[in-house]
Amino acid sequence: MPFDFAQLFASRPVILAPMELVTDAAFRGVCRARGANLCVTEFVRAENLVNECKREVTKITLPAGDSPTAIQIYGSDPQRLAEAAEIAERAQPAYLDINCGCWVPKIARGGAGAGWLRSPDAMVEMAKLIVSRVALPVTVKTRVGWGTEEQMPIVDLARRLEDAGVRALTIHCRTAKMGYSGEADWSWARKAREVVSIPVIVNGDIRTANDCKRALELTGCAGVMIGRRAIEHPWIFREARSRLDKQGQLSPPTAVERVELCIEQLCAMAEDRGPGRAIRAMRQHYPGYLRPLPFAADLVRELNSLSTLVLEDTLAVLRRERQEQAQVAPRHAHVAPEAGATLGDSL
Ligand SMILES: Cc1cc2nc3c(=O)[nH]c(=O)nc-3n(C[C@H](O)[C@H](O)[C@H](O)COP(=O)(O)O)c2cc1C
Repeated sequence: MPFDFAQLFASRPVILAPMELVTDAAFRGVCRARGANLCVTEFVRAENLVNECKREVTKITLPAGDSPTAIQIYGSDPQRLAEAAEIAERAQPAYLDINCGCWVPKIARGGAGAGWLRSPDAMVEMAKLIVSRVALPVTVKTRVGWGTEEQMPIVDLARRLEDAGVRALTIHCRTAKMGYSGEADWSWARKAREVVSIPVIVNGDIRTANDCKRALELTGCAGVMIGRRAIEHPWIFREARSRLDKQGQLSPPTAVERVELCIEQLCAMAEDRGPGRAIRAMRQHYPGYLRPLPFAADLVRELNSLSTLVLEDTLAVLRRERQEQAQVAPRHAHVAPEAGATLGDSL
């Protein structure tokens, strides 16, 4: 069944943000199973894809069931980007997204990512070229501006990108110069949304189900995109979905559920990427996944100290923890909500 772009964006999707070294197939599976309506791959460097680099080819390989997933590409050369878009299209993603928002100096300074915000005219021409080269919908993810302009270009850009044939726009509501400092100002997503008829997705600092609801109410956007909060709490998607669909109160994940997620994701990653990379990649998730457990800090320290060569050692610790937590249930079945998010907040 071909992916129905319009239908998805009519349903106020809660979307997993593209995140380098995070949103691989295993993590997309984790988030989708917990309510993410749409996922985006890590960004894929256009030049490397065109040159058939193994790493980039792996990134665009979508396993069965990994749908809907969009592939995101980045680069500074419009021709290479267009060629990469043609290659990515053959992987049959839901759509193709162009990264015009990465602020990291080594990328933006060379003109890729948020570097495009320094020349909006060139960005629009590049988008037009890519749209002309592929049949799939093309979308753009960007920020509100570079950060030195008197007026943020995002509103005018939104209009011009729509005219160029771009089918949706995701706005991380910070400037490139802000990096991750300060707060995301969602009002820019509203201003951009007001001048276009394509879906606009609001992104930046959405950490709870209440944030999702507030962001959609304040902006009138078609969907929300969640990045960093998903790394520590992928249950955010089902919590947000339940809140948006008025389905009532969800229990927070149990201690056993939290440990089981570690096992599930570790095994899935090990199968895809080998044990070493999986063990290392899981380290970014343990503090968030396990935080509410008694003695979580000790457990995370223990997991982080284990060899990256032997998957069984890590699995043995996690299985021991699962057994211990299962024994204290049901008294501790539902662990307390995490600091910074009250129960009401996470619903
Ligand atoms: C580890 C990490 C990697 C990221 N990689 C990408 C990427 O590959 N492409 C992209 O468009 N944005 C990337 N981002 C930015 C996120 O997609 C998102 O726009 C940003 O984190 C703001 O959303 P949040 O406040 O929900 O985290 C990355 C962010 C993080 C934390």
